[in-house]
Amino acid sequence: MPARIAVNGFGTIGKRVARAVKLQDDMELVGVTKTRPTYEASIANREGMPLYTLDEKQMKVMEEQGFRVEGVLQDLLTKVDLVVDCSPNGVGEENKKLYEEAGVKAIFQGGEEHGIAGLSFNAFSSYDLAQGRKWARVVSCNTTGLIRTLYPLDRMFKVEEAFAAIVRRGADPAEAKGSALNAVEPSLHLPTHHGTDVRTVLPGLNISTMAVKVPTTNMHVHCIHAKLRKKGVKTSDVLSLWDQMPRIRFVSGKHGIRTSGQIMEIARDLGRHSGDFAETIVWEDGTHIDGESLYYYQAVHQESDVIPENIDCIRSMMEMEKDASRSIRKTDRSLGIGK
Ligand SMILES: NC(=O)c1ccc[n+]([C@@H]2O[C@H](COP(=O)([O-])OP(=O)(O)OC[C@H]3O[C@@H](n4cnc5c(N)ncnc54)[C@H](OP(=O)(O)O)[C@@H]3O)[C@@H](O)[C@H]2O)c1
Repeated sequence: MPARIAVNGFGTIGKRVARAVKLQDDMELVGVTKTRPTYEASIANREGMPLYTLDEKQMKVMEEQGFRVEGVLQDLLTKVDLVVDCSPNGVGEENKKLYEEAGVKAIFQGGEEHGIAGLSFNAFSSYDLAQGRKWARVVSCNTTGLIRTLYPLDRMFKVEEAFAAIVRRGADPAEAKGSALNAVEPSLHLPTHHGTDVRTVLPGLNISTMAVKVPTTNMHVHCIHAKLRKKGVKTSDVLSLWDQMPRIRFVSGKHGIRTSGQIMEIARDLGRHSGDFAETIVWEDGTHIDGESLYYYQAVHQESDVIPENIDCIRSMMEMEKDASRSIRKTDRSLGIGK
């Protein structure tokens, strides 16, 4: 029997998780929620995603605007095994009480604290730990990107220490708010929370981070330095290690790909839904070893890199697949991502 899934919060991440769940042959999307009659409600109606509101009042407003609504969140929670909470930062903490009362499992997103679930998830490193769990938190887009490249490096060559300078997109493309149009804003809480967040998944990794916000919407770019304990590692060794990993993809300046905008164009040319790029993108010719120091650049599509992680997290929490690599392969095939 397929796992019955709800998505609470149908914004940037929620609509993508909902679409991804619909593509799985071992999961059923039972419903999604909206609080307001904005255009995402018509996406849900048009794409056959049963639509729920948080309460009766919202349901009335929505129906008056011509949307088809099946009920309220409380009804939805009686019909599912697991809810993927994609509500705004910090709201998941309040929602957890509702899930507890309804006796359903829940996945929270990176805008919540680690303590909400006690397990912060990345499919490469935490799949086994999530088996059968009631709560988990899929870490943020930046944290996911950092883990994807640093986890295999640490396993193969031992990372003595790592430092990442994170160049953050100011806002998502659909957001009306965002960073100033002509300014760069450094994060003044140092070191930034990103390194701490990586350690919620990889506690042994000695990593610190700094970040600046820039006026772009398409991707984050990471400038990473990792000191490797193993001697004699060559750039080609690092590239061939990453090449064997799912969800890491190379681009090259030599082939004309020098900017995050050009990477987004590749996603569109590949026909990816919404122009998404869920893999972590590493510049092959922006990777260099000097003695024990590895330097590299990578780009992260903030709106989509956590989507496959949510699908694997569901599969592990629902104990539908014991083997992480089999789940990752299944997810990636269904979403049309990979090399
Ligand atoms: N965007 C990113 O780059 C990104 C990347 C990775 C992780 N995340 C994390 O994913 C989570 C969601 O972020 P997002 O970017 O998808 O936010 P978002 O685009 O603002 O979407 C969240 C949606 O939740 C709905 N909502 C508001 N109050 C709610 C409530 N009480 N219960 C349920 N839904 C409610 C809102 O839709 P309506 O009010 O219109 O229904 C809103 O559009 C956050 O934890 C965030 O940190 C975001």
